[in-house]
This record gives sequence, structure tokens and C-alpha cells, in this order.
Amino acid sequence: MHSMRVWTDHLLPRFTDRALGTKRVGRLRERVCAGLHGTVVEVGFGSGTNVGYYPPEVERLLAVEPSTVARRLSEQRIAGAPPGLSVEFVGLDGAGIVLPDASCDAALSTFTLCTIPDVEGALAELRRVLKPNGRLHFLDHGLSDDPRVERWQHRLDGVQQRWAGGCHLDRPIRQLVEQAGFSVIECERPTLPGPKILGALYLGTAHVAA
Ligand SMILES: C[S@@+](CC[C@H](N)C(=O)[O-])C[C@H]1O[C@@H](n2cnc3c(N)ncnc32)[C@H](O)[C@@H]1O
Repeated sequence: MHSMRVWTDHLLPRFTDRALGTKRVGRLRERVCAGLHGTVVEVGFGSGTNVGYYPPEVERLLAVEPSTVARRLSEQRIAGAPPGLSVEFVGLDGAGIVLPDASCDAALSTFTLCTIPDVEGALAELRRVLKPNGRLHFLDHGLSDDPRVERWQHRLDGVQQRWAGGCHLDRPIRQLVEQAGFSVIECERPTLPGPKILGALYLGTAHVAA
């Protein structure tokens, strides 16, 4: 097998599981999951790291995830989910979600809007499957508001995409959410320690604009 494919298909999902499974990121996951309830669609479910942070008000989790290895890594977390939470896989691509219109109470995306190739398509799909009062909860890294960091993010974006499975450094997450027809209710800009080009976060919620 080509060595790049070994990295992206087999090693990267394990690396992501570790790198995004730290305590500090866990505290942010807890915050982004607060307020989720009922039926939730999670796009880019990955290795299921959010499962332990879902509040008890969530009854049904509909997971969209293309990586076979990540889905396999998630099995243990799904097995440890509270008895009141059912987890189902509903497809492979956030830009083509196989769920009816207005069928979900909430949507969750963590560290995935940076990666989905057709991010506009995926946000449009999340908007379509949300009920009129439904909310999108998002946590991602993206474009910094520091111009010096921003310059490096644009410069290094191509390199990052090659080694990180299509992950972009410089997506303006809040703007993308708004352009897709959501109204942002709140959006904090926490930072992670380490390289500034990776640590500019967006943590927020949005609802379908009237
Ligand atoms: C950086 S990982 C984040 C995983 C997880 N959400 C987390 O918070 O740890 C990005 C995830 O997006 C998934 N992904 C890539 N393309 C996608 C697509 N078109 N639709 C949905 N998910 C996608 C990847 O397979 C990967 O699991």
C-alpha cells in the first residue's frame, strides 16, 4: 500500500484520537455538548470521543463518519455509552446526509468543519436536517484573528492538508456557519497551547436563521 495511504487511512485516525483526547480538549468538548438533547446528528464522529460528554437529555445519536478505522476505534466508547443513548451510523459524508428534512433536534461538529472537503455542502445539509428551532453546536480550529498567525496559516495550509488528511488551517469557521444560513448565538475564541496556527479555536452555537 502507498505509504501516504497507510498514514491517512490507518495511522491518522489513531493520532487524532490521541491528540484530540486530552483533558484540556475534553473540557471544551463538555462545553460544546452542553444543551444537546433529543435526536442529535454528529458529523465527523471520528473515534467517538464526544460520546462520554453527551448530556443525559440526548436519546439518539446519528453519526456520520467515513473512516473505517475511526469507526472501529469508536466501538468501545459506544459500548460504554449510557443505556439511555442509542448510537447509529447514518452514512459517510456530511455533504450528503441520508436523513429527512427537519428530523434532528440538534447537530454537533467538533474538529470536522476544518476537514470536510465540501464544507459549505455539509453545513447546508446540517441546516436541512435540523428542526426549525434546532441548534448547531460547533468546536473547531481555524483562521486566527491575529494577522501574523493568519499569514502563516495561509502559507502552510497546503502542507497541513497533505499530512492531516485534508484538514485546513485557515477556514473562517464562524463566517462559514453564517454563510450557510445560520445565526450565531455565541462564538468564543479559546486557544490551545502549542503551534498558534493550530490553536485558534471557535466554540459556539448557532440556529437556523429565520
Ligand atoms: C480531526 S477528525 C475529528 C474527529 C472527531 N469529531 C473529534 O472531535 O475528535 C476529522 C474527522 O472528519 C471526518 N471526515 C472527513 N471527511 C468527512 C466528510 N466528508 N463527512 C464527514 N466526516 C468527514 C474524518 O474521517 C475524521 O474522523
